[in-house]
Order: sequence, then structure tokens, then C-alpha cells
Amino acid sequence: MRVDVFTIFPGLVDTFTSESLLGKCRIGGLLDLRCHDLREHTTDVHRTVDDSPFGGGAGMVIRPEPIFASVEAADPPRPLFLLGPGGRRFDQAFAAQLADSAGFSLLCGRYEGVDHRVREHLVDDELSIGDVVLSGGEVAACLVIEAVTRLLPGAMGNSDSPIAESFGALGLLEEPQFTRPAQFRGWEVPAVLRSGDHAKIDRWRRAQALHRTARYRPDLITARGGLSDDDLRLLEEFPSEAYP
Ligand SMILES: C[S@@+](CC[C@H](N)C(=O)[O-])C[C@H]1O[C@@H](n2cnc3c(N)ncnc32)[C@H](O)[C@@H]1O
Repeated sequence: MRVDVFTIFPGLVDTFTSESLLGKCRIGGLLDLRCHDLREHTTDVHRTVDDSPFGGGAGMVIRPEPIFASVEAADPPRPLFLLGPGGRRFDQAFAAQLADSAGFSLLCGRYEGVDHRVREHLVDDELSIGDVVLSGGEVAACLVIEAVTRLLPGAMGNSDSPIAESFGALGLLEEPQFTRPAQFRGWEVPAVLRSGDHAKIDRWRRAQALHRTARYRPDLITARGGLSDDDLRLLEEFPSEAYP
């Protein structure tokens, strides 16, 4: 998959994506990441990309020229998304959709954002990572790239992982996970997980995923059309583990 990123801080994106799973995917050729420095397309000695906003007001705005020039020179994969708090909310379902494509591109704003003509005439859509304001789009770009890349076939060791995960095909939060030791400071791993009864473990896991989702994200239960009779039976069979 090819992903192009347009930014005034290419090093931020490059560093983050050079480590861990993303780094392996880049080395292995699964992720062809190309970072473009908007300052390469400025014309003054100071490599200025920003200017004050028309109409006055606080802060600076990225000018349209370096953005248009950089994108036109790179001919990046589309869709090209501007990252911004006013955009469509990025979520797991959209990550899966992008992972199914040949590639996409991300434009990172800074300061007060980018000249609106970029939004109107250059990008295809705007993506937000949540109702929060960052200083720049680079962290948002890294978030999108990581969420999408880990879903690419071959990126993760266990190909079943994305299905059972939170927001996966089950539409639930994942159940709690435990590892050794079985006893830690007097806190014990649930006995069912050590029982060897795999059918029972599966039912327990699903019940705990339902409990956890009902408690922390009841909107996800509503989105699935509520609890089925099967779900209700499971919840009765396995009471909730304590969630802090
Ligand atoms: C300080 S923000 C600009 C915020 C803008 N003045 C506003 O109030 O909507 C600078 C840049 O950070 C990025 N950014 C900030 N919050 C974001 C979010 N929630 N999702 C995606 N990108 C974000 C965008 O690229 C944005 O242009």
C-alpha cells in the first residue's frame, strides 16, 4: 500500500513509522510511505509556508501555493485527506475500508490550519481523529497510518486478531486479557481461563466482552440492535468481572 504524507515536519512521521510494526512493514515493502516536505515548494530564502489570516485574528495559516505545488509534483494516491478537527471522524470501520484500498494520502495542517481553498479545490475529504485539537496533523497522520497498516494482510502475526479485537467484526470491546503469573499480589486470573475447557473459555470471553461493552460503550450495544437472547443467556451464565 502506498501512503503519501504532506507536512512541514516530515521527520516526525518518518521517525514514528520507522519503529516497531510500521518499521517492519516499510522494510518488508507492505507499506510504501512517502513523506513530502511542504517547504521544498516555497520560493523565498526563509522557506515560508504561512501567512496571517485575511480579516485579522490570531495565529497563522498555511498558504495554498506550497501545498498545491507539493501535491501536484508528487501525484499521490487518492483519496487525499486533509487532517483537521472539522473532518469526518476516523474509526476502525474506515481504517478497514482504507486497508482494502491500494493507497491514500494525508495532508497535515499546522498553526490555525490551511487556506480553505485547499479544502475546496485540492483534497477529497477531511479526516478528524476525534473531538480534540492538536498542534498539527502529524500525530493524526501517524494514528491513521498505524490503524490502517496493521490491518493489511500479513502485517500482524495472528491473522484472526482484528476480528476479535475491540470494534472488530463482533462490534464489541475486547474482553480482558491475562498472562502469567496466575497469582499476582493476591489477584488471581479467572479460573475458567485455566480450566482447559475451550468451549467454556469462548463463552466466558464473549460474556465479558458484552459486560465490558455494556458498561463502557453502551452505544455499541445499541448499534448492534441491543442484546440478543443468546447474549442474555451468556450474561446470566457468567457474571461481570470487576471493571475499575
Ligand atoms: C491547531 S490545529 C488548527 C485548529 C483549527 N484552528 C480549528 O480550530 O479547527 C492545527 C492542525 O492540527 C491538525 N489537527 C488538529 N486537531 C486535529 C484533529 N482532531 N484531527 C485531525 N487533525 C487535527 C490539523 O491538520 C490542523 O490544521
